[in-house]
Amino acid sequence: MDRVLVTRQLTPGALDPLHAAGVEVVQRPDDTPWSPAELATVAAEVDGLLCPLTDQIDRSVLEAGAAGRLRVVGNVAVGYDNVDVAAARELGVAVCHTPGVLDQTTADLAFLLVLSATRLASDAERDLRAGRRTSWGFGDNLSRDPHGSVLGLVGYGRIARQVARRAEGFAMEVLHHSRRPTGFPGYVAELDDLLAVADVVSLHVPLTDATDHLIGGRELALMKPTAVLVNTARGAVVDEDALVDALEAGRLFAAGLDVFEGEPTPSPRLLAAPRLTLLPHVGSATIGTRTKMGRLAAQGVVDVLAGRVPSNLVPPDSVPPDLVTG
Ligand code: DGY
Repeated sequence: MDRVLVTRQLTPGALDPLHAAGVEVVQRPDDTPWSPAELATVAAEVDGLLCPLTDQIDRSVLEAGAAGRLRVVGNVAVGYDNVDVAAARELGVAVCHTPGVLDQTTADLAFLLVLSATRLASDAERDLRAGRRTSWGFGDNLSRDPHGSVLGLVGYGRIARQVARRAEGFAMEVLHHSRRPTGFPGYVAELDDLLAVADVVSLHVPLTDATDHLIGGRELALMKPTAVLVNTARGAVVDEDALVDALEAGRLFAAGLDVFEGEPTPSPRLLAAPRLTLLPHVGSATIGTRTKMGRLAAQGVVDVLAGRVPSNLVPPDSVPPDLVTG
């Protein structure tokens, strides 16, 4: 009988494909994460791994697994920067992920951050809860209008396009940049040009060597001081220190982050930064979407174990597309 390690507790129903296929599910009774050493040990004893993005499926885990019976990793996320896909390919381990099922939910969250950052909702709530609003002041918590402003999407994959649809309802002008021309209206070939004109910049690129600190001090300096930065992709796409510098100096109006460097613990500087809405990587965190993600990743694992090519296979030698993750 095939054995699949599920490293964390998922939502009810997420493991249905594993149960329907009759595989043995190996899982802790609680949600304690597996240490890298534990993962490497257990990887050798299972045919499949089903894990969220918090597990680093690196070469050592994959080598240990492949030396045993490991044939597939089901990453319960659309982004797969936590998996060494090149090593997996070399070792003959398939990798599946969860494209498509989280687009709408993540776009909703990205737009929530667009609205919260432009309207300074987090600051206003903090002031209220801290007792700093004992009278109503005409000039209190003055923010900026998202409606009618220019939204610049960096990356133009499925989720970015859903964010664009939401922006239409707010009469925003939507521009986008990606490495390759998209052929769609609003394409801006140079990232610098997009940064210079956008009132809101929203990031929707996977984390790769090319996008690590894509937005640093130089790029932030190109943005308008009235602009807002939103990140629902991966924390390392933004140089966090440079972002905090810009917020503290008033060189950037505000930011909305669902992802940050050093997750799950924000740095003290980030926690103290002004005009920042900060969320703990909840872009896809609705019951319905997380369940669909679990099922899709689990189905991929089942397909590989049954000798079928899953619909959600990460092409091992592909350049990651401009996916929005979050
Ligand atoms: C993903 O799927 O890549 C998200 O970051 C987590 O939902």
